[in-house]
Formats: sequence, structure tokens, C-alpha cells
Amino acid sequence: TQISYILAIESSCDDTSCAVLKNDRVLSNVVAGQEIHTKYGGVVPELASRAHQSNIVPVVDQALKQAGISKENLTAIAFTRGPGLMGSLLVGSSFAKSLSLALNIPLIDVHHMHGHILAHFINEDQKTPDFPFLGVTISGGHTQIVKVTDYHEMEVIGTTQDDAIGEAFDKSGKVLGLGYPAGPQIDKLAQEGDPKKFPFPVPKAPDLNYSFSGFKTAVLYFIQREVKKDPDFVEKNLKDICASIQYTLIKILFQKVEKAVKQTGIKSVAIGGGVSANSGIRAQLLSYKNKGWNVFIPPFQYTTDNAAMIGISGYFKYLEGNFAGMEVTASPRIEM
Ligand code: KG4
Ligand code: ZN
Repeated sequence: TQISYILAIESSCDDTSCAVLKNDRVLSNVVAGQEIHTKYGGVVPELASRAHQSNIVPVVDQALKQAGISKENLTAIAFTRGPGLMGSLLVGSSFAKSLSLALNIPLIDVHHMHGHILAHFINEDQKTPDFPFLGVTISGGHTQIVKVTDYHEMEVIGTTQDDAIGEAFDKSGKVLGLGYPAGPQIDKLAQEGDPKKFPFPVPKAPDLNYSFSGFKTAVLYFIQREVKKDPDFVEKNLKDICASIQYTLIKILFQKVEKAVKQTGIKSVAIGGGVSANSGIRAQLLSYKNKGWNVFIPPFQYTTDNAAMIGISGYFKYLEGNFAGMEVTASPRIEM
């Protein structure tokens, strides 16, 4: 069989990442995060693009070195076209185009959200989902339920009308004085807290869609009210508050996932995106095995933004000969 070596670049938000894949297996997957944003409590786009600019060459070099592959042996270059921050996407897409020109090998554009879903097909000798399945992509920028009928045939059947679930984690955490991103910290603190101590509201949203902005405001007002009565309220109850926040976010998320399974009759559910690292969400998904669902959770390193997921998506396009022309542009807002 034919062997391909695909180099993939992901730079849609605040992580600069490069991976090298040998067919559907990952040889290397280097991710350089950007500390700089923590002190601003969120991603600053201008600072993100500057950091990508200085990170991209060393990250690519390291990925090639770890894979033990020289540039001359590469078969194709895959990159994230969008969605994401324009300045960030421009760094990765310009670099990928230049490399493909210099090496005279095909260029493959990848949709970031396809990447989060297709990460399940990175070959680690695990069971992979059969089509059709429901992809639930939950990150700092997205909350979507996607009907996946083939590698690149995806239909968004539910989405958030305002904030993403990752933002709900991060902004609630900010109110509690936790640093950015607060999601992983809430997860950790929640493990020792009482999830039913503080009931937070489940916002209403039509059909399979989501809304999180009302939740965020409810947390803010609740904390402000309690702190007025007792300035040490947060300190005294931090674990219970985190557990209650996480419990409610899980409830909001799975209400619509259950509805989507009922509506479509598709009982295979694969989660992806940074928030799928959450231990409570993982446990909740696994519990549906009792109801006869097939559930899929990606390995931890392929949940948050990474280039390996762009590489696997690029690989499936490569097999179809589905390449990009040099006129392809970074696209901050792009349809699935
Ligand atoms: O996919 P990702 O790395 O970047 C985007 O495309 O947005 O997702 C980042 C998001 C952040 O909101 C972060 O707080 C959240 O994923 N996150 C978590 C956990 N790990 C990362 N949220 C809850 N629990 C976690 N363990
Ligand atoms: Zn992402």
C-alpha cells in the first residue's frame, strides 16, 4: 500500500501546533501554548498572532525532528483554513502555502471543526465510530451537535445561540477568581464538591440549540449576592460552587444530546474539543452505554487544539485527491 507523510499545521486560536502523520498514524504532535493570555483573562488576538509568528518555525522543526522525517520526504501539507482568529489563521495558512510551494507538494485545507470530529479516526488501534454518528464538539469557541455521514459530510443540527460551553466554564471561573482558562480548574475542584449544593438555572433554547449566556449571568449575580452577605463566601464554598456549575453545564449539554439521539435515531455519539477533556462530561457520556449508545472519547492529547486532528482530516482529503489551490485564503468564519 501507498505510504504518505503529511505535515499538518494548526494555528486557529492560541496554540501553535504541528504534527507529522504516516498515513493515519501520528509520528509527532507538537503543541506550543501561549502563556501571555493568562494575565489578560482571555485570548488577545493581536498577541496570539505575534506569538504564532515566533513559534511556528521552531514548532515545525521540532515536529519533523520528533517524527524523524526530513522535509524532502513529505507528501502533502495540511493546514487549518478556519474558523478562528484571522491574524492567527494567517500565520499558519501563509506558512503552509509557502512550504507546499517550496517543496512542490499538494496543499490541503482543513476545517477546524472537522478536525475535532475526525480526531476519533487517528489510528491508535482503538475502535472508531461507524457512519452515521453524532459528533458533539465542545470547546472555547463552539458548542455543536453534528450529524456525520462521511469523513467530510457533516451537518450541524444544533448549535449555541450565544456563548460556547467552554466560555461558560471560563467566565464562571473568572467570577470565582480562577485564572484563564478556568475549565480545567473547575473540573479539578468539582471532584471534591457537592454538585447539588447550589442550583443554577438551565437556560431555554429551541430545538437542538444551546444558550449559555443566561447561565453565566446567573452565576455572576448569585456570587455577587452571596459575597455581599459574606465576603468569604467563595473561599468557603469554592469546591461546591465548582461542582454545582459543572453539574448544571453537564445537564444543559446532555439534555440536547439525548434529544438529538431520539430525533435522529443515531445512537453513536463522539465528543471532541477542549471541553471533552472534562472528567464529569466523560463520565456522563460513558453512563449512556447502559442505554445502548456507542460512545467515543478521544485520547486526551487530541481533545484540545492540536495539529494531529488537522493531519488526519488532511489524510482523508489526500486519499480523495481533494487539494487546495494557491488562491485558498484563511477564513475566520466558514461553514461546515
Ligand atoms: O478546543 P480548545 O482547546 O480551543 C478552542 O477551539 O476553543 O478548547 C479550549 C476550552 C477552554 O474553554 C477550556 O476552559 C476548556 O476547553 N477545557 C475544559 C477542560 N479542559 C479544557 N473545560 C472543562 N473541563 C476541562 N477539563
Ligand atoms: Zn478547537
